[in-house]
Amino acid sequence: MPANDLAVVILAAGKGTRLKSGVAKVLHRAGGRTLVEHVLAACAPLKSRKTIAVVGHQADQVTTVVAPLDAESVLQQPQHGTGHAMQVARRALGSAKLAIVLPGDAPLIRTETLRAMLAAHRTANAAATILSAVVSDPAGYGRILRKSETSVQAIVEESQLTDEQRDLNEINSSIYCFTLEKLWPALAQVKPHNKHRELYLTDAIAALTAKNEAVLAHVAADPREALGCNTRADLAEVDRIFRERKRADLMNDGVSIQLPETVLIDQDVTAGEDTVLEPCVQLLGKTKIGQRCTIRTGSVLSDMILGDDVLVEPHCVAVESRLDNNAIIGPFARLRPGTHLKEGARAGNFVEMKKSVIGEGTKVPHLTYLGDAHVGPKTNIGAGTITCNYDGFAKHPTTIGRGVFIGSDTTLVAPVRIGDGAYIAAGSTITENVPPEGLGIARGRQVNKPRWAARKRRELASAEHSAKRARPRTKSKAKKKKSRRR
Ligand code: UD1
Ligand code: MG
Repeated sequence: MPANDLAVVILAAGKGTRLKSGVAKVLHRAGGRTLVEHVLAACAPLKSRKTIAVVGHQADQVTTVVAPLDAESVLQQPQHGTGHAMQVARRALGSAKLAIVLPGDAPLIRTETLRAMLAAHRTANAAATILSAVVSDPAGYGRILRKSETSVQAIVEESQLTDEQRDLNEINSSIYCFTLEKLWPALAQVKPHNKHRELYLTDAIAALTAKNEAVLAHVAADPREALGCNTRADLAEVDRIFRERKRADLMNDGVSIQLPETVLIDQDVTAGEDTVLEPCVQLLGKTKIGQRCTIRTGSVLSDMILGDDVLVEPHCVAVESRLDNNAIIGPFARLRPGTHLKEGARAGNFVEMKKSVIGEGTKVPHLTYLGDAHVGPKTNIGAGTITCNYDGFAKHPTTIGRGVFIGSDTTLVAPVRIGDGAYIAAGSTITENVPPEGLGIARGRQVNKPRWAARKRRELASAEHSAKRARPRTKSKAKKKKSRRR
């Protein structure tokens, strides 16, 4: 069968009652992505002719997530079980001959495993191939009942197990490959299961074997790939495994990670050779880090782009911003979206920036807020400089040229421009543009009053002395003195 006869069906209509959540199960997150995005990512390299997501619970929200990943949503309303979900998908499958079916809640599945299952299915010309896994704790999963070493008799759901079957430890991952012309008649024979009148896809297996159709179970090399997320504990375990896999991948790519189990890295993050991640770092979203960068302890980078040789000192929080080669931030810097530090620029301790461009080699070493600012190269911004970019109604820009020196504790009331090479005197409140090479000074003049302090002290001391003498003794104090004399 040519590859384009293949379709993928993701069952994603369920509510996920056991998670006790207002969010549909497949939209819960692990490893920095929703569960259904992981499943789609594993299927994408198969290049099937079509990918269908069966949606139901929170259908619109699930569709919003799957549509950009080229999955067509089919609505299952109400949800009458996994077998019913496949029947709902039938029309959308069109002329596909083969379908890989996956639950949207088993996100650890890998492309290689799907390929191996597909190859086994094709070689045996089977009607159905189940991806199974041998696990130490099979509780909660459907069990594989084998006819022989190579073929399957049935899948028995947990609620239907006899006492002898309870110890079977080969489980159904709910990932299958079906030859569709064989599946539909078998599914038509399946009877509703429980008081909810659910059709179980698992029952189609017994229906196929009753017709003497070939049903295989392909055992996953790594049983963790079959893990389904039915509970919060399952979610936590799957998340842990994703994080571990990601760290291992980055270390293989030449990234050093200290105390790896404390470092949290999302799936789409990349980092170059000889980059070092210290303990308790978080790299989130689509963060891209170049070579030889150091991300020191406690820093959280989300959707950041870092060039090479960037240093992020401890405890920085940086979001949707860019740091070019040799830039340095922190410790304790906060970069909000839209910030760009050009080559060799620096944002030091307790510096906050938002939507600001900082020129090559410019230093903003301490205690500063720059918002909607454009700063040229080789400029120095003194401690305590603040851009007043918001007037309660709108945001306004501050433009600072090249080679400017902004003295400490300067307030720049936007919109305002400081020309190239200008100086701003420390403690100024700048409300007007400063020309290139000029000095802006905007503060009260200093007045020194000689010997003022000594005179003041004398005045205060003599006032205190007179007050003491004038104060009458209270009765109780006089009594106390008397009794002490006795
Ligand atoms: C299912 C299998 C079980 C297997 C386990 C592996 C059945 C009856 N049982 O159980 O053998 O060991 O997965 O994780 O299939 N869904 C729909 N529409 C529905 C019902 C479910 O789209 O009407 C979707 C869910 O959103 C979910 C998937 O199908 O993504 C599986 O459903 P779930 O309720 O998680 O089944 P399990 O009880 O885990
Ligand atoms: Mg499940």
